[in-house]
Amino acid sequence: MTSRSEFPRHPAHAEYPAHTGRPVHAGSPESSARPGRSEPAGSSGHAEGSGLPEVPIRRTCPFDPSPDLAALRAARPVARAVMPLDGSEVWLVTGHDLVRRMLADPRWSSSVEGGLSEDQPLHLKQPEPGMFIEMDGSEHARYRRMLTARFTVQRTNRLRPRIEQIVAERLDAMERLPRPVDLVAEFALPVPSLVICELLGMPYEDRAEFQEAARAFVRLDSPAEEIEAAMARLIGHLAKLIAAKRAEPDDALIGELVREGVLTDGELVQISMLLLVAGHETTANMIGLGTLLLLQHPDQLALVREGAPGAADELLRYLSIVDVVMFRGAKEDLTLGGQRIRAGEFGLASLGAANRDPALCEDPDRLDVTRPKTAHVALGFGPHQCLGQNLARLELEVAFQALLRRFPGLRAAVPLEEVPVRENSAIHGVHSLPVTW
Ligand code: HEM
Repeated sequence: MTSRSEFPRHPAHAEYPAHTGRPVHAGSPESSARPGRSEPAGSSGHAEGSGLPEVPIRRTCPFDPSPDLAALRAARPVARAVMPLDGSEVWLVTGHDLVRRMLADPRWSSSVEGGLSEDQPLHLKQPEPGMFIEMDGSEHARYRRMLTARFTVQRTNRLRPRIEQIVAERLDAMERLPRPVDLVAEFALPVPSLVICELLGMPYEDRAEFQEAARAFVRLDSPAEEIEAAMARLIGHLAKLIAAKRAEPDDALIGELVREGVLTDGELVQISMLLLVAGHETTANMIGLGTLLLLQHPDQLALVREGAPGAADELLRYLSIVDVVMFRGAKEDLTLGGQRIRAGEFGLASLGAANRDPALCEDPDRLDVTRPKTAHVALGFGPHQCLGQNLARLELEVAFQALLRRFPGLRAAVPLEEVPVRENSAIHGVHSLPVTW
């Protein structure tokens, strides 16, 4: 876990995937290169002198990608951008078709680190065994194959009754609390945390470990030592858990993998860490920010409450909580959108800009939960497309419907401007959302 500069990496979930690989959403232990760590969020948005846009391009509204991204997409959908930390340059890709092409192109590697300065040229890294979000080609496919069958629509649907029960229990607990209630602390965060713990076979009492690690990962200004300490604690914790599963494997995912006997303890630790971090932080932010968005759009809120079938995908598209996907590095010279890109250069795909591209759907800046299915990229695209996407959709559908049905009079207890938005984060969301009903 080396890593130096601070800039975006994934998100797998992420806005700024560090190019050393920590998925912003997913949680690779490594990573730390994220842009903007030491640079305040409020910078002009353009690097002094170069005139290039600075990444990340900050949101001015919690629900929308920056208008600067739309301008860039129209003028230069594959553009040079600069990382404020040290002025190094990356390719920022904003057009929908180009983002998909980039993410599906094996010449762009997810195993990159270094870069950002002359003495740290971009190079391919050797990811920790099991941390497949940072792997390419057959190495990546080997792990995906072991897991894909466990995340199909059918397998995921078997979890529906249990997810409904978890959601109902959290709503019961919320109802007993004095109002206003913080929706994030009482609902948005616990629901996906409980679900991923059950899926993996991890005690929910252990949630502090992975919630803390996830928080450190996705903050763009977390000191490297803080990330490393949180990671080390989580790794130690998971190593103990896996030893316990080896002694007594259960029927949950880690237990099943242990019984199959193919993976080493080290691989199991990394896979569990990735799934834990990726599996709760993103969904939690979607529930928090999505609820706030729906409260601003009562007509759409009513449709979600009635069970509009494509609502989860439209909310994912519209909010693009993972604004920028993990760093990719060009393994060879290539051309994208007419732009010549040299081997060794970095690229970032703006999922937010792609999801608001007029080429994707009609009136992309309008929230319409009845919209026909779109080819949005909020869950990524290509070989690294979100492994947990069916689970994420199911959790969002159950959570939003049950919440809005239980509390038909749900409203924010503070004005929109007072809701604390996550500013310096690879994943958009709100820190808390006081609600009443
Ligand atoms: C609303 C929720 C979610 C969003 C917005 C989201 C977004 C994403 C995105 C954009 C990627 C692609 C990263 C890249 O290309 O580098 C990704 C990958 C991934 N996601 Fe999610 N995700 C969500 C929920 C989940 C859940 C619930 C799980 C867990 C079960 C999960 C597990 C993963 C994993 C393991 C990867 C890495 C896949 C690979 O590298 O092959 N995600 N996610």
